[in-house]
Amino acid sequence: MFRVTRRYHFASSHRLHSPELSEEENQKIYGKCNNPYGHGHDYVLDVSACGPLDSAAGRVLDTRLMDDLVERLVLHPFDHRNLNTEVQWFMPVVPTSENLGREICRRLKHNWNSTFPDEWPRLEKVRIEETPRNIFEVRADEIE
Ligand code: NI
Repeated sequence: MFRVTRRYHFASSHRLHSPELSEEENQKIYGKCNNPYGHGHDYVLDVSACGPLDSAAGRVLDTRLMDDLVERLVLHPFDHRNLNTEVQWFMPVVPTSENLGREICRRLKHNWNSTFPDEWPRLEKVRIEETPRNIFEVRADEIE
């Protein structure tokens, strides 16, 4: 079994603010990330797949196919967008990197078979670096 990780980059802005909490609570929990006009991140996204080697090609997967999937489901809708106001799914959801990672992993998992219909390769996990010190991982088999 081999694991292959491919790295992508996108930039988005967001504001951490929960409509379920008061202004004071939001300020207390999210601090400067709650500033009304938001702020941006240069996200680093690692998508990992696993599987046996294809005996003829000597590869786990055609990375160009994964690129197309990530471009369509993640980079195109998220890059240079405000996650709170421009990405429909986040409008009722706080765009923390936990939620961002879960949504990216969910999108890839639910559409994976359209690109990779065989038993292998499988989507293993998604890893997001929001900053060099804030890193989030979501495993495909641990989400719905
Ligand atoms: Ni932030």
